[in-house]
Amino acid sequence: MKSFGIITAMEEEISDLKNMIDVEKIIESAKIKFYVGKIDFDKKIILVKSGIGKVNMAACAQHLIDKFNIDVLINIGVGGAINDKLTVGDLVIAKDLVQYDFDLSAFKHPIGFIPDIEKKFFDADKKILELAKKFYSEQEKNTDNKNNMYFGRIASGDRFVCDQKDKDFIKNNFSADCVEMEGATAAQVGFLNNIPFAVIRVISDSANSNAVANYNQSVDSVTKNYLKLIEYVIKNY
Ligand code: ADE
Repeated sequence: MKSFGIITAMEEEISDLKNMIDVEKIIESAKIKFYVGKIDFDKKIILVKSGIGKVNMAACAQHLIDKFNIDVLINIGVGGAINDKLTVGDLVIAKDLVQYDFDLSAFKHPIGFIPDIEKKFFDADKKILELAKKFYSEQEKNTDNKNNMYFGRIASGDRFVCDQKDKDFIKNNFSADCVEMEGATAAQVGFLNNIPFAVIRVISDSANSNAVANYNQSVDSVTKNYLKLIEYVIKNY
């Protein structure tokens, strides 16, 4: 049976996902609660809230891999729009990810480049991308019920971006579409452990001076937008 490790950073991002799975037990370890259950009898799920930011994500993702022996790692949550085509409620599926605040430029490395592993961008699992595309084309037939879905680049860093200058920096240096605070760390941990990974985000804000107001208004409702996609991806993987 395939095991899926599903990580969100915050309660708002995880609460609806808990209702999607049949939780069999809750295991507490490293001060984190792991919800162990199933979808469809044959897909094992370990659902967990890591806490916000890159270190929380790295610790939690490695714990999922070491203790729960997962086959696939999926990080889900909200994100800020870097690409101006994106609006609140749109889904972003990462084709690749980068840590925009990893900076060894003093030693002539491009920002985001991690010399130990000689990588700047981490590619997401192709199978999940294909399933998301299939879901989107099937959903297209049912226009009443459709969220915009965008396949692009996600940039992660330990800051809530709410300033046009920071947004422009991320856009100009990384050609990113979406910003958040964990995805690229999940990606790096997946890469280091040879575990396929994906990052799926829904836009909660514009990552500029309106971001906090946008976020406060949208966070409780937009997280519904990814539920059907996640269920489809897991059931069909
Ligand atoms: N998550 C949601 N919106 C974000 C933003 N503007 N910056 C960083 N992380 C986010």
